[in-house]
Amino acid sequence: MNQAHEREHPTRSLLRSRILMAARAHLSLISTLMLGVTMSALRGESQDLRAPVSPPSTVSSHGLRGARASATACAHCHSEITGEWTLSQHRTSWTDEVFQSAYRLEPMQFCRGCHAPLNPDAQPVPTGEAAHDGISCRVCHGENNSARAVAASEEITAQRARCGGCHQFNFPAFLLTQGGMALASAPMQDTFGEWQRAVASGMTETCQSCHMPWVRGPEGRRHRSHRFEGSRSQALLSSALITDVRATRRAHGVLTAHVLVRADHVGHAVPTGDVFRRLVVRVWLDQNQSESREIVYARQYESRYERDPAGELRWVRREVQDTRVQPPSQALVSPREVHFANVTPSTHTLHWRIEHQLMPPEQAASKHIADAVNRMLIREGEIAIDAANSQVNSNPTPPGAPPRG
Ligand code: HEC
Ligand code: HEC
Ligand code: HEC
Ligand code: HEC
Ligand code: HEC
Repeated sequence: MNQAHEREHPTRSLLRSRILMAARAHLSLISTLMLGVTMSALRGESQDLRAPVSPPSTVSSHGLRGARASATACAHCHSEITGEWTLSQHRTSWTDEVFQSAYRLEPMQFCRGCHAPLNPDAQPVPTGEAAHDGISCRVCHGENNSARAVAASEEITAQRARCGGCHQFNFPAFLLTQGGMALASAPMQDTFGEWQRAVASGMTETCQSCHMPWVRGPEGRRHRSHRFEGSRSQALLSSALITDVRATRRAHGVLTAHVLVRADHVGHAVPTGDVFRRLVVRVWLDQNQSESREIVYARQYESRYERDPAGELRWVRREVQDTRVQPPSQALVSPREVHFANVTPSTHTLHWRIEHQLMPPEQAASKHIADAVNRMLIREGEIAIDAANSQVNSNPTPPGAPPRG
């Protein structure tokens, strides 16, 4: 990373070049340290998942002696599951262009621990299976393929073991006095925590019930899908949100749009996961799309120098705002408003559209990520406002959705 990168990608980079310079001397130490943190987190959290439960005969009937088997070895007998996994973001966790565009700015062992978990410890550039298979079968199924080992145990523990080890982690903090890195106290990704809080307030679904639905493949066998769809699925995104947009004419030619976006069928915040994900609602009048108003639902951060209790100076990122849509049965939601001035008393059409973005468009452009990859239209609508109407409701139920009680 260099100064030019810093200027090109001001919002993305976790590292400042001067911190990198301070840290560079300690790079091998950092690598060892972070590998230790990540892998021990994974190992600790995944204990149940990896515990031997199947009798040894089951293991050898899988032909998995030594558990070095790659996904190719599973494809023979689990072709449908392997086919789904091949199309998943888990398989492309290392090769994916969005990940690679970020990793180029922050080439840290910290990242490799999760995005290329089969990579041998000190390898700076994962190759072969570690790169190509990303989060492969044996990362989750361990030596005895025993995902079911946790099915019987308590659900929260099971979810933490299966998914939480990777879908929950804190920001890295850079230790400026002694050099090196540690984990900060604030979550960088909080998906598991968001889910846990939703469960505490009454949500009953597990990660698998939404992300590994039962499917029947062409061979007719029922299994849990390994496609692991997320925010790249328009259908899933759409099922996550209820939108209700209204318009009110006010005095002196002011027109107000009230935009309510709340959670429907989802088990965590929307968006969740990576720090740069956002929802954007755009609202405009008549043909004036170029003058549209924007409402953003996202987390916001700032970087700070802080002293920890031991007096150590650290450079950390802190969340300063979270305007995301919270999971169902969480906080009450009130509409957000945008205003248009000098609106004539004649008829108008208010247009709105809501989309999901992997990252802010200017950031995507600077990383050469195509708009079509970065942005996904979730829903759109329009409201006819005639001269007499004081308040008009857009169709609050999305077309095709079942009636809500
Ligand atoms: C020679 C065929 C064969 C190969 C190769 C094979 N499996 Fe299996 N596997 C089976 C059969 C048969 C079952 C039991 C029926 C079922 O659940 O589909 C099974 C069941 C499983 C289960 C469910 C375990 C349980 O406790 O019920 C998992 C998980 C699994 N396999 C993972 C894998 C993985 C990962 C690989 C590759 C590393 C693999 N298998 C390779 C045949 C195979
Ligand atoms: C991200 C973690 C993850 C990855 C990667 C993964 N699995 Fe699974 N798999 C699971 C979980 C969790 C379950 C159990 C779902 C349940 O029953 O709740 C499961 C269940 C299974 C089962 C049991 C049958 C079923 O559908 O319930 C088989 C067989 C299986 N996986 C094979 C594979 C193979 C083969 C691969 C690689 C091509 C693979 N898995 C990759 C997490 C994973
Ligand atoms: C070894 C770490 C690891 C484990 C275990 C794991 N994941 Fe993931 N998962 C990842 C990474 C890394 C990505 C992002 C890959 C990318 O896009 O670069 C991801 C992506 C996903 C996505 C897709 C996000 C998108 O952008 O489309 C979903 C959904 C998901 N995981 C759900 C799960 C669930 C459910 C479990 C538990 C059954 C699980 N994961 C277990 C690391 C893991
Ligand atoms: C009630 C259903 C439901 C449950 C439970 C649920 N999810 Fe999701 N998940 C969704 C929907 C819908 C989306 C798409 C909207 C979004 O991105 O937030 C999604 C998106 C995601 C993404 C994609 C984030 C991205 O940026 O692409 C990940 C990763 C994920 N979920 C992981 C998990 C994990 C891990 C759990 C369990 C701790 C879980 N989910 C529980 C419904 C669910
Ligand atoms: C503890 C595990 C973990 C670590 C460490 C980690 N990630 Fe991730 N990363 C994930 C998971 C889980 C997701 C999936 C969430 C989502 O898609 O929103 C993800 C998603 C991403 C995405 C979005 C990928 C896509 O295809 O849209 C980028 C970019 C990314 N990570 C970059 C990095 C970088 C760079 C580092 C190192 C500075 C890093 N990650 C460290 C677990 C991790």
